[in-house]
Amino acid sequence: MPASAPAPVQATVPVWSPALRLLHWTIAGTVIASFATHEGGGRAHEILGYVALAAAALRVALGFAGGPGWRFAGFVRGWRTTLGYARLVLARREPRHLGHNPLGGWMIVALLAFTIAASVSGWLYTTDAYWGVEWVEALHGALGDALVPLFVLHVAGVILASIRHRESLVGAMIHGRKPSVRPGDVASGDAHDRVMRRE
Ligand code: HEM
Ligand code: HEM
Repeated sequence: MPASAPAPVQATVPVWSPALRLLHWTIAGTVIASFATHEGGGRAHEILGYVALAAAALRVALGFAGGPGWRFAGFVRGWRTTLGYARLVLARREPRHLGHNPLGGWMIVALLAFTIAASVSGWLYTTDAYWGVEWVEALHGALGDALVPLFVLHVAGVILASIRHRESLVGAMIHGRKPSVRPGDVASGDAHDRVMRRE
């Protein structure tokens, strides 16, 4: 190819690293399995809850100390930007984001926070000091139950964004790639997208 020829346009670009995808499906799988096994607690429920806790805690640590693709600072936006984006969604004019969109960013924060809070309260309930204490049991049940509407909203948001922008976000979380940048897209403004597009 001559030196002056433009770089070929890629049909898809990498957006999620294998490690991020693996961690996502580990968190999703263990949270869903913890919920499915909650009846009466039990060994399986406790182990699944501990794995969910470890994976979510690792994701939070990487959100602060990881590379550009991991950082919360790259996709957790202020309330003005998030509200502005929500208005555009209602007006059906929201731009496509190559990374997480502002509403998705806050949903991620909520999912991680409730996953950690639910598992820590579950662990607390099994300690000698709090075993059988009614308010700890009630708190654990409430935190676990709260993950259900969050999960439903999360998946609904993923489906809605996929329909609006005619792309499969679930597919992207499996194979790691999204259709390349189109006019009007938001490349998130974070270093993540710039780094990923260079790969
Ligand atoms: C994301 C993780 C978790 C979720 C979503 C979850 C969810 C739940 C839910 C919804 C219940 C039913 C509460 C009720 O009937 O009022 C429950 C019960 C229970 N969970 Fe978890 N849990 C998680 C993690 C854990 C962990 C890490 C432990 C302990 C190490 C644990 C220990 C228990 C026990 C012992 C019960 C039975 C309480 C009882 O009814 O006596 N859970 N969990
Ligand atoms: C309770 C279960 C789940 C939890 C706790 C959860 C949590 C998360 C988290 C923390 C992220 C951020 C990924 C990262 O930056 O590391 C995320 C993103 C994502 N999740 Fe889930 N997830 C769950 C279930 C699911 C399910 C069942 C699906 C598929 C239908 C799904 C599809 C996605 C997609 C597509 C993204 C990326 C969204 C985007 O492109 O901005 N999640 N989820």
